[in-house]
Amino acid sequence: MTSPRSTRARNAALAVATFGAIGLMAMRLGGSPTPLAPAPKGPEPLTPPGPYVAFGYNDLGMHCSQEDYSEICILPPFNTMRVQVLRRGSEPDILTEDVTVSYRIPGQSRAADKSNFWTYAEPLFGVALAPDVGLTGHGLTGNLTPTPQNHWEVTGIPALPVTDSGRLDPYQLAEIKVTGELGTFIARPVVPVSSEMSCSLCHGGNGVSMAGDILAKHDAAHGTTLVDQKPVLCASCHADPALGADGAPFLPNLSKAVHGKHADLVGGLGLDNECYACHPGIRTQCQRDIHLANGVECIDCHGDMNAVADPNRIPWTTLPKCGDCHSRPGFQFEQPGKLFKDSIGHGGVHCAACHGSPHAITPTITAADNTQALNLQGHTGVINTCTVCHTQTPSESFFHSVDD
Ligand code: HEC
Ligand code: HEC
Ligand code: HEC
Ligand code: HEC
Ligand code: HEC
Ligand code: HEC
Ligand code: HEC
Repeated sequence: MTSPRSTRARNAALAVATFGAIGLMAMRLGGSPTPLAPAPKGPEPLTPPGPYVAFGYNDLGMHCSQEDYSEICILPPFNTMRVQVLRRGSEPDILTEDVTVSYRIPGQSRAADKSNFWTYAEPLFGVALAPDVGLTGHGLTGNLTPTPQNHWEVTGIPALPVTDSGRLDPYQLAEIKVTGELGTFIARPVVPVSSEMSCSLCHGGNGVSMAGDILAKHDAAHGTTLVDQKPVLCASCHADPALGADGAPFLPNLSKAVHGKHADLVGGLGLDNECYACHPGIRTQCQRDIHLANGVECIDCHGDMNAVADPNRIPWTTLPKCGDCHSRPGFQFEQPGKLFKDSIGHGGVHCAACHGSPHAITPTITAADNTQALNLQGHTGVINTCTVCHTQTPSESFFHSVDD
């Protein structure tokens, strides 16, 4: 299962292990009871502490949408938002009842006028969708529902990277409103979505559309007749766990097919980061977090194209772990067998509530992704101010472990 990690990844892992060790030594030398650096003193939080606090996050680092669905569909518009709600106290309570949790995207009240997805949803997915409604029946505004994972969730928001005023913005802020007997709380997480999938760097031109060229090449290479079957859903033949599609037997899954086929082709573009040939992208910079600032790039965590195409991987599941590189005495990372996005640490709080979404581990280079931390504690980065959740600083030290 494990693909050989690049030298840089190993170096990165070593660097973190070393840093961890130095941190421990400093702690012993200083005799400090806690391995945590004190939360920086700075401006006051912008949101004064109240009875409730909530943290919103996207399940993925970024979702991809397309500008045009008339010929091919790789991924439909489909953002999934999660929110963890706490009642502040000396021992904070994680709430899955007694409040309502609603969402909207202030800059985006419409989507169907920005993409032809609603015209092609029926031939592609066999469901006729009302304008602005996504594949799971949720629109751009509504309520989240509690899950057994102790957060609130709404799946399949059909968000697009274009605001109502026509501005391109892959990092639009949502507004999450928690309302309960004790009052209200507003959280402002990002809804990351981009259509900067640059297949057109190599496909199309001379009067042929990008998708038309892809289908023609596919037909020529594999004897299919996709050009006559538009619009084509790739996952109707190639398995894609992102869509819950099993695919036809004996065919490579979509991730393996695309990464494997292009492994020796993308290098020719001369991009600094070859993953940005198809992932968003040179302009969007979906990997926008603390790791970018430390020179850790896609391939350091994921391996190269061939590693991503490894047939032993389960796409969307066999993914890097924080614990591959980070080690720190007393700190636990992902729960066994779970992804970062599904794991909890410290008292049942989800990893992403304190750290942000994958690829947006705070502090980020994007102002939008720093908004929640800034609002709650007056500084960016991980949520490390105890009183964001506890009403007074606990006398016992912080623990970073997966069992509460
Ligand atoms: C670096 C340039 C490059 C980029 C970027 C690129 N392709 Fe390709 N792709 C090619 C070339 C070249 C071929 C034809 C290869 C051949 O004929 O052997 C090809 C072939 C294909 C084929 C036909 C399969 C086959 O076995 O020949 C499909 C399907 C395809 N690409 C899909 C995509 C999609 C989808 C994207 C964007 C997500 C994309 N490509 C991005 C260069 C690229
Ligand atoms: C009707 C079924 C069907 C559909 C729909 C389909 N494919 Fe394929 N695809 C195939 C078959 C069959 C092969 C050949 C597989 C083999 O030789 O093992 C193939 C091969 C490929 C390959 C080459 C894999 C390799 O390892 O060389 C790529 C890339 C690919 N498909 C991408 C796509 C993309 C992208 C889409 C959507 C635009 C798509 N396919 C839609 C049936 C399909
Ligand atoms: C030629 C286009 C192309 C390039 C280049 C590319 N990807 Fe992808 N990638 C895709 C497509 C298309 C999907 C969506 C597949 C699906 O829906 O299952 C995807 C999905 C993924 C996924 C999620 C599915 C999985 O396999 O777990 C990962 C991880 C990933 N890519 C990593 C990378 C990395 C790392 C690089 C650079 C080394 C890279 N990709 C370069 C086209 C590309
Ligand atoms: C610091 C390490 C790191 C870097 C750098 C990184 N990733 Fe990831 N990536 C991860 C982790 C960890 C996950 C799994 C998250 C989880 O378990 O919930 C992931 C998940 C993914 C996924 C699946 C969807 C999702 O967001 O969970 C895709 C696609 C992906 N990465 C592509 C990329 C691409 C493309 C780049 C570079 C532009 C990149 N990654 C850079 C660590 C990294
Ligand atoms: C490929 C190795 C690698 C992976 C995987 C990885 N990181 Fe990192 N991370 C690093 C490196 C290298 C640094 C910079 C060195 C440092 O500051 O410790 C760093 C820095 C950080 C920092 C800043 C640490 C500090 O004290 O300033 C945080 C927070 C962080 N990573 C969280 C995560 C999370 C959360 C994940 C999983 C979603 C993750 N990392 C996955 C290599 C990695
Ligand atoms: C209550 C908030 C909170 C939760 C929940 C949380 N963390 Fe952290 N995490 C922190 C703090 C605070 C630090 C220390 C940052 C520092 O050194 O100042 C940290 C540090 C880290 C680091 C960097 C460790 C290092 O120094 O190399 C990683 C990686 C990490 N956490 C991953 C996770 C994962 C995975 C989960 C879920 C299982 C998780 N965290 C849950 C607050 C949290
Ligand atoms: C994101 C919210 C959040 C932050 C920030 C946070 N905690 Fe907690 N903490 C919790 C939750 C939730 C519990 C579980 C309470 C329970 O068991 O009912 C908890 C429990 C604890 C406990 C166990 C004993 C108790 O009071 O229940 C200690 C000790 C603790 N936290 C210390 C800290 C320290 C020290 C910090 C700051 C470095 C901190 N926490 C930051 C949410 C948070």
